Amino acid sequence: MRAMKDWYASRPHLFTKRPYDHPGYDSYVQPNSGSQANQAVFLALLQPGDSIMGLSLAEGGHLTHGMHLNMSGKWFNVVSYGLNAAEEIDYEAMERSAHAHKPKLIIAGASAYAIKIDRERFAQVAKSIGAYLMVDMAHYSGLSAAGVYSNLTPYADVVTSTTHKSLRGPRGGIILTNNEEVAKKINSTVFPGMQGGPLMHVIAGKATAFHEALQPAFKSYQQQVLSNDDTLAKTLVERGLRIVSRRTESHLMLADLRGKGITGKAAELALGQAHITCNKNGIPNDPEKPMVISGIRLGTPAMTTRGFGQEQVRLTTHLIADVLVAPEDRGRIAAVREKVAELVAPSPVYGDTVLHPCFICRQLLSKNLFSIFNLVFLKGMVCKTRWLQVQSATLG
Ligand SMILES: Cc1ncc(COP(=O)(O)O)c(C=O)c1O
Repeated sequence: MRAMKDWYASRPHLFTKRPYDHPGYDSYVQPNSGSQANQAVFLALLQPGDSIMGLSLAEGGHLTHGMHLNMSGKWFNVVSYGLNAAEEIDYEAMERSAHAHKPKLIIAGASAYAIKIDRERFAQVAKSIGAYLMVDMAHYSGLSAAGVYSNLTPYADVVTSTTHKSLRGPRGGIILTNNEEVAKKINSTVFPGMQGGPLMHVIAGKATAFHEALQPAFKSYQQQVLSNDDTLAKTLVERGLRIVSRRTESHLMLADLRGKGITGKAAELALGQAHITCNKNGIPNDPEKPMVISGIRLGTPAMTTRGFGQEQVRLTTHLIADVLVAPEDRGRIAAVREKVAELVAPSPVYGDTVLHPCFICRQLLSKNLFSIFNLVFLKGMVCKTRWLQVQSATLG
């Protein structure tokens, strides 16, 4: 712990030189998660029974924005806003509802909304009714820090974020504010109001992520994330899939699977079997039950970190579409799995020499030939002293 404290103390610039280029902002790096960051804001600024307004979960919002089973939905009176017929935030309806219900806090932010959010509009509405505006930029903070997405901080009284989505840091949360009154309240709310001792190892990880976000390479990374996402969306459309809101302006999108006669649950499972990871996600006015639903959420930050450019993304998208055409065709899934292995082979997640230093292991890993069975084989026959490292690379 002492070593960590010394490390922290010797790098104050990482904490004061923030990736969100606004002098005068206080940032709180202690929240253990994005949800806890949001809860801290609620506890600091609201009383149980107050009204809050957020994007409904069914139309792209987050659980902590007022979902009925979440603390935010149980403790507060929730007034949700939603999307219009074009599947874009219905700003007019949001404004009317804000004037009718006078929420004390308005949340601008989303978990599954691919196009830019007009924060200025939210700020005008919040100001006109004397409400706080909280921007939850959990998904967009990396893009925003790199300057390739609308700047999220200037319009809000308080900004929350996770540190592990597009910001590409450790799992955790942060809160930013330039409002002195809010800053004071947040300070005592996080500790002792909600949390105990700080998770210094995670805070060190956040500092490293902020440091990375300040490097020029981070900007090119985020630009690539956006071009890759655009390619992903366009290729899905070429293959007959519908993208919710018709386009993406960020790092993610929702694909509507109804036209293909497949559910989100079946798609997630089949793609997982082909070693393509995604999550099922509801689409606006989803006709299916919440655990089945009709969409999948796809995004490009992870594959871009892996080194994928537009060509690899195009190939990956075709593989996704190939699986979605026949999600129960085991032969087709196996063939896609092989192609996935070929695509990722040149850019392993972990550096070769660290996790699988032996030549034979590297060959097998790059061809994705490991299974528990041949690990046992390797233990006895090939790797001897190194088999544990190989095992962690394969199963971890
Ligand atoms: C918009 C938004 N806010 C908050 C969170 C919560 O983050 P965490 O999972 O760290 O609690 C998420 C996570 O999915 C999110 O998308």
